[in-house]
Amino acid sequence: MEILFDETFTPRDQAKVDIEDRGYQFGDGIYEVIRVYGGKMFCLEPHLQRLQRSTSEIRLQLPYSLERLKQLLQELVQNNHLTDGNVYLQVSRGTAPRNHKFPENTRPMVVAYTMEAPRPVKMLDEGIHTITDPDIRWLRCDIKSLNLLGAVMSKQKAADRGCEEAILHRDGRVTEGSSTNVFLVKDGTLITHPADHLILHGITRQVVLELAAELNWPVEERAASIEELFRADEVFITSTTTEVTPVISIDGRTVSDGKPGPMTRRLQKAFAERIG
Ligand code: PDD
Repeated sequence: MEILFDETFTPRDQAKVDIEDRGYQFGDGIYEVIRVYGGKMFCLEPHLQRLQRSTSEIRLQLPYSLERLKQLLQELVQNNHLTDGNVYLQVSRGTAPRNHKFPENTRPMVVAYTMEAPRPVKMLDEGIHTITDPDIRWLRCDIKSLNLLGAVMSKQKAADRGCEEAILHRDGRVTEGSSTNVFLVKDGTLITHPADHLILHGITRQVVLELAAELNWPVEERAASIEELFRADEVFITSTTTEVTPVISIDGRTVSDGKPGPMTRRLQKAFAERIG
């Protein structure tokens, strides 16, 4: 496998990351996960725009243009003959003697690689079990930061209980999943947290909002309460890797009758049409 390392392609086992890389030491960097369907990156432009926003919010300058990065990512996918899978891309602030403040004249480090992954058809079809968990993450969840410890702890708690995702809440309000956005359906209306500093502005979330608009469905972008979550007619999560996945239980209680709901199914169909 060939990976993108700075601006060149290198075999994976020859890439070396310094022990003082700031991504490694401080989690000082950002990342993206981009889905590849049929050899083509899905929603590449919005991912690149979000990457640029994340870098600028942490005052990190990409070592080359976004256009060049796009070209390199396309080559990466081709070189690895990836048809269905993901591209993982991260940019750290680079390597410098350990000191919290930004180093001077350090070149940020870009690394990207591909992973083969089929669509998660079983999950999409059957739905997933979830838990709720307090959202203990920082207050800039809109930045796709390499610091994922809060998410890691919540996801593991879910796994310990035989569940696939943790639905996070802050001050009694649902924010998002540990690695997904969360939607509720109540009386035909879609409800999801507004795209503010408390959630990641998911690309799949945005696609779902576009699909809902095309279907003329009412949407409320607001923070639902935990009580509303438990009383919802349908619940689903979205992300690059999970698409539109039905949630069939929360903390051991079924969502409605414990089967994926009709609006979730309709969105899954519309989403599948969008990816072609
Ligand atoms: N996770 N919220 C969080 C906290 C996320 O980490 C993600 C993505 C999303 C969904 O965003 P998008 O639709 O753009 O993938 C929401 C990625 C896939 C990950 O960390 O693997």
